Amino acid sequence: MLRETLRELALQPGLTVVDGTVGAAGHSVEILPGIQPCGLLIGLDRDAEMLGRASQRLQEANSEKTLPSNVLLEQTSYAELRSVLDAHSIETADRILVDLGLSSDQLADRNRGFGFQSGGILDMRFDASQGEPIHHWLNRASIEEITSVLKQFGEDPLSRLIAQSIGEQRRKERIETVSQLTQLIEKVASGRGHKSGKSHPATRTFQALRIQANAELEHLQRFLSTTAPESLAPGGRLAVITFHSLEDRIVKKMLQDRTTWKSSSNKPIPASSLECKMNPRSRSAKLRIGIRAD
Ligand SMILES: C[S@@+](CC[C@H](N)C(=O)[O-])C[C@H]1O[C@@H](n2cnc3c(N)ncnc32)[C@H](O)[C@@H]1O
Repeated sequence: MLRETLRELALQPGLTVVDGTVGAAGHSVEILPGIQPCGLLIGLDRDAEMLGRASQRLQEANSEKTLPSNVLLEQTSYAELRSVLDAHSIETADRILVDLGLSSDQLADRNRGFGFQSGGILDMRFDASQGEPIHHWLNRASIEEITSVLKQFGEDPLSRLIAQSIGEQRRKERIETVSQLTQLIEKVASGRGHKSGKSHPATRTFQALRIQANAELEHLQRFLSTTAPESLAPGGRLAVITFHSLEDRIVKKMLQDRTTWKSSSNKPIPASSLECKMNPRSRSAKLRIGIRAD
């Protein structure tokens, strides 16, 4: 989505651009040359480790091997952007990008518990200094609550069966690890004739639990309804990349508000076929653009 995003952001020298989910700075390193000289890049991420990676990547890309003076990196949610701008006496941003979800580095990190193939403890927090690891909730929540989260955030047809199986399993032992949960889901799915050609049966459960652990939809809704409109200059552009239909539906609906967003295509922009071939995860990516009304 890099090429499409850069095109839609329509960068110009001197702009103030916010990368609200800077991650490993894959987008930011390409944005920076487009706003030089005298532009400002603000990179936010809830994950301190990802901010470290972003800083390293931006330093490597700079000929002086230091973090460019026109780059600001902060550990916070994109939903807090307005406070970041206020703290730096910045009136508005000209462009905002949010590339939702998690990075492949986070997915592969066995200390985080994001991926069903990563092993490790079921933590799933972007910011480990806030909230609690998701296994605490998983061992405490009622079967009804777990069913509802798996259904709502994972759109998982096996929600109830998986929640019931979690209830049975945790009567024997606490569920704390990725492998405990993955094995349990595989057992439920194989009993229901899950076909091996489909995505792994744990994909939806892990997505749902990650969304729950980080209150992701609350952050997204607050950002779209209040933060982004209050932070963007009139005519400024918002680019949102989503990876599942749940998020895309929210973005589509919010950008239809014509008092706030002047124009945005009703159709999302997909990843190119070349990118889909090279990176299968990008097949579900969708880019939507909003232009702030005057
Ligand atoms: C798909 S990755 C971004 C990748 C990045 N665009 C790149 O090119 O390297 C998503 C990032 O968003 C971060 N994130 C998730 N929710 C966030 C939030 N509410 N505010 C800020 N960052 C968030 C994650 O920690 C992760 O690093």
